[in-house]
Amino acid sequence: MSSPTVQTAAGQLEVGDGRTGKQYQIPIVDESIDAIHLRNIKTSEDDFGLMSFDPGFTNTAACRSAITYIDGDRGILQYRGYPIENIAGHLDFMTVSWLVLHGEVPSKAQRDEWESTLTSQCQLPQEVVDALERLPRGAYPMAMLAAGFAMLGAVYPDARKNKTEDERWVHARRLIAQVPAIAALAMRHFNGKPYPALDPSLGYVGSFLASAFGDTPNPVLRDALDLLFVLHADHEQNCGTHAVRGVASAESDPYLSLSAGVGALSGPLHGGANEAVLRMLREIGSVDRVPEYVENVKAGKYRLMGFGHRVYKNYDPRARVIKQAAERVFEVTGVNPLLKIALELERIALADDYFIKRKLYPNVDFYSGLIYEAMGFPVEMFPVLFAVARTTGWVAQWLEFELDADKKIARPRQIYTGPLNRTLPN
Ligand code: CMC
Repeated sequence: MSSPTVQTAAGQLEVGDGRTGKQYQIPIVDESIDAIHLRNIKTSEDDFGLMSFDPGFTNTAACRSAITYIDGDRGILQYRGYPIENIAGHLDFMTVSWLVLHGEVPSKAQRDEWESTLTSQCQLPQEVVDALERLPRGAYPMAMLAAGFAMLGAVYPDARKNKTEDERWVHARRLIAQVPAIAALAMRHFNGKPYPALDPSLGYVGSFLASAFGDTPNPVLRDALDLLFVLHADHEQNCGTHAVRGVASAESDPYLSLSAGVGALSGPLHGGANEAVLRMLREIGSVDRVPEYVENVKAGKYRLMGFGHRVYKNYDPRARVIKQAAERVFEVTGVNPLLKIALELERIALADDYFIKRKLYPNVDFYSGLIYEAMGFPVEMFPVLFAVARTTGWVAQWLEFELDADKKIARPRQIYTGPLNRTLPN
């Protein structure tokens, strides 16, 4: 069977179906075609028509969004049109959170009001604290976070009221305000320690750190975590955000939608990669074992965690900022001994044909774990820290989705490969 041939013309795609000799014109809008047009390409009236096949959505846009822009070939990331290099180190997380949600840089008064709004509602309902504390000590913190979000939806009677902008903002504020408390509780519980409620006077990031460690945070470390939160605030349609939008598309409540986002983010190919990187560096153990490890990666035994990205085919701009921030943290904490192994891995990989050909560069997760570990977080907490920051992005994406005129329930098609019309065995 011959495949359809494709040619471009201004404003439309001309497609010739080699099976029937028919020509089709498909409109090009925003450098994209609407996949539904493919359904008109058929061999007969009874034919279902063509579908596009794209497992993993490698070349499929699922929405229009004005929040985050990525040019993966050039290593560009922008929030609301502002390059990440001009944001990181210049705007703090509260400012960036507002920017991501509202589209504009807030005034100092707006930023401060945003922080006090969030910290004034940061305490978890007691039912949620009690329920989470009943989980076994050492429970996986990402599972506790997913459960915590879902529990907020169980506790607040208005959780499924989200038809109006005002109703949606109640959830938006609540989710962003309370995620640090769930994260702190998850860490205390993981470490077998009692959970001290957050102290709102210490600010959004400081109150989380103080509760998680049971101590007044060092300002350098607090600022480093703030910067990491800035770098993780949003990243357009990644697996976790897609999960949030996908669940919300069924008109499910935002608590369960974000809970799904946490589930997706926990995976080692996504946000769980920061945890996997640390485990990998520990397994390598010393700089002289790096070449052997890289050979095993090339032989397909395992992946180099913290390397590669679906969209970036260049150095992840976030990784560059994190590498610089690590130095400031290590001045306070002492250098993480795994840094040498990470630097050697990067040096060897970036000069190796296997990685060059496949355009595999360090991503955001390659260096972040070294900082988290130096700060005293257990590796199991690393993806939770990612999720605390990403809650802002998820909420922004959810709010945007709710106003999207093109929104539809997420419901992909399949190519059925099983048998048909079988007779039941006697
Ligand atoms: N180590 C070794 N080889 C790799 C890696 C890696 N980390 N990543 C991709 N490849 C190879 C892969 O084997 C394939 O080779 P071939 O063409 O010979 O079959 C080629 O590169 C393309 O890989 P892919 O799996 O088709 O690429 P993808 O876009 O589907 O996957 C990825 C992207 C991020 C899942 C992948 O690069 C990966 O597994 N990286 C390691 C995990 C990681 O660091 N994830 C964090 C991503 S950034 C933060 C976030 O998402 O939250």
